[in-house]
Amino acid sequence: MRGKLWFSIWVLFLWGSCWGRFVVEKNSLKVTSPEDLKGIYECAIGNFGIPQYGGTMLGFVVYPKSNRKACKSFDEFDISFKSKPGAFPTFLLVDRGDCYFTTKAWNAQNAGAAAILVADNKVEPLITMDTPEEDSSVADYFQNITVPSALVSKSFGDSLKKALDNGDMVNVNLDWRESLPHPDERVEYEFWTNSNDECGAKCESQIEFVKSFKGAAQILEKKGYTQFTPHYITWYCPEAFILSKQCKSQCINHGRYCAPDPEQDFSKGYDGKDVVVQNLRQVCVFKVANESRKPWLWWDYVTDFAIRCPMKEKKYTKECAEEVIKSLGLDLKKINKCVGNPDADEENPVLKAEQDAQIGKGSRGDVTILPTLVINNRQYRGKLDKGAVLKAICAGFQETTEPAVCLSEGIETNECLENNGGCWHDKAANVTACKDTFRGRVCECPIVKGVKFVGDGYTHCEASGSGRCEINNGGCWKETRNGQTYSACVDGGCKCPPGFKGDGNKKCEDIDECKERTACQCSGCKCKNTWGSYECNCRGDLLYMKEHDTCISKKPTTEVGWSFIWVIFLGLAAAGIGGYAVYKYRIRSYMDSEIRAIMAQYMPLDNQSEVPNHVHHGDI
Ligand SMILES: *[C@@H]1O[C@H](CO)[C@@H](O)[C@H](O)[C@H]1NC(C)=O
Ligand SMILES: *[C@@H]1O[C@H](CO)[C@@H](O)[C@H](O)[C@H]1NC(C)=O
Ligand SMILES: *[C@@H]1O[C@H](CO)[C@@H](O)[C@H](O)[C@H]1NC(C)=O
Repeated sequence: MRGKLWFSIWVLFLWGSCWGRFVVEKNSLKVTSPEDLKGIYECAIGNFGIPQYGGTMLGFVVYPKSNRKACKSFDEFDISFKSKPGAFPTFLLVDRGDCYFTTKAWNAQNAGAAAILVADNKVEPLITMDTPEEDSSVADYFQNITVPSALVSKSFGDSLKKALDNGDMVNVNLDWRESLPHPDERVEYEFWTNSNDECGAKCESQIEFVKSFKGAAQILEKKGYTQFTPHYITWYCPEAFILSKQCKSQCINHGRYCAPDPEQDFSKGYDGKDVVVQNLRQVCVFKVANESRKPWLWWDYVTDFAIRCPMKEKKYTKECAEEVIKSLGLDLKKINKCVGNPDADEENPVLKAEQDAQIGKGSRGDVTILPTLVINNRQYRGKLDKGAVLKAICAGFQETTEPAVCLSEGIETNECLENNGGCWHDKAANVTACKDTFRGRVCECPIVKGVKFVGDGYTHCEASGSGRCEINNGGCWKETRNGQTYSACVDGGCKCPPGFKGDGNKKCEDIDECKERTACQCSGCKCKNTWGSYECNCRGDLLYMKEHDTCISKKPTTEVGWSFIWVIFLGLAAAGIGGYAVYKYRIRSYMDSEIRAIMAQYMPLDNQSEVPNHVHHGDI
């Protein structure tokens, strides 16, 4: 068993591995106190735990008195790092060595630390802390690590320890905001995966990730927010071994494209070459789906294939794959053409392209670890977890261009639950400026029922535009009495309605028109104040005219009225005609003089015939 495992590692080579380049993904660690340590330091994001892409995390550093390598459970030492509510979370500083990085992180997490900082034990460039490579069916705990982890250099680790020795409180801020480039409104990402489903915890977590992430991936792809490409690592068989039994069972196309045997046993189960062919088929599914502008079908195919055609049920076959392809309405002929003939001694352009893509370019290193997620040409570090990956992808959008799915539940923080995150809020209207996003909470005046609030978001927000009176009456006074409602909400602010006085915000008071003698002043009139208005009754059978605050006879006065109107009308008409005549006359005389002036410039008019033109006449 050991020998065979050794063989498959030894004999297959990764394309381009001779000039390989591994890029360490970094984030920054900002020390805010003590004074003499203040500054920004680099640290390397571990390949497990959940880094807060796009966000930051504040805490203070603790270096334990014992178990400094965190290789044992802190329970044995009766140590806990759980922070009390309201206190800064604990970032546990431990030393590198003696056990897996994941063991340290697991012990730190179980003891209540919020993050783990591993201090390197030798002077060297930062490396990426990875999960244990060997079969880890016993040790699946690393899938459960959620605390973010970072490796810091030996010298920085020493400085931290020294400050702690001095009794200083060391405050740090882990910052992942610049860990991913976020240049524009589209994120390009790649997922390097494998169709093999019998490699233990790593394979299982891979397919679990694909299943859980499928929904979000498809939304993002359909709406054009992302461009996703799946990839598959293939190895090749060195020339000298092409005809060996091992290469024949692990490779296709005459040793050109290989995959390690799933069980590391050539005598039973599926062979490496079966895996290569299925991987190739998955690339082809993507290619054909992409050509018909439905690249997201890859996610359906891969999850369906994993469910319907698992190795353990002996269904990891061409027939089963074709069933899935047909059920998704994909063009089987095209896909088979793309797969080609695995027995032929020739190159397969699709797998050749996959091998070439393995080699790092730009800011991305070689892809050597499976699975690998590459976002905006940077390798994602951390656990393959739906929320964490979505956060990372969302961090790849230029700020404010991130799609709605980035602001959805599940990946948002819950900072608004407590005290509205310290943002502005209006209890009465149940409106808050606090918004949970994957980047943490922001204080931003909201839009409620189509009404936009404006303000700084922290101390002040105010409904604006038409419709603002719909929400909490625009913050203005409003009252109902006996079925009658008065509101102080008007365009651009609060103003008490007629019949009321006050600032309009909190209070408007009825004006007693009778007492204040502002209305109903006609002689013999009887005044009675009402809420918001007044009643006025005239003497006898006279009628009260509110506009003029006067009493008039109720008897019809049509004739008088009509002749009165006629007089006014005729008067207006006369004035109009007169005005027009004057206007006409003035216009004419004005134009006359204007025309004369213009003409005078070109020809001598009667009364100007003697005006000499110096330029011409004088010279001749
Ligand atoms: C990891 O989490 C899973 C599911 O939450 C649980 O079943 C499993 O026991 C956990 N493993 C360890 C080692 O805690
Ligand atoms: C998928 O299609 C798009 C446009 O249709 C193209 O730009 C992209 O390169 C294609 N991807 C692959 C891997 O063929
Ligand atoms: C305030 O609004 C939120 C949702 O907008 C709702 O869940 C909550 O129950 C409301 N609270 C009150 C006191 O009305």
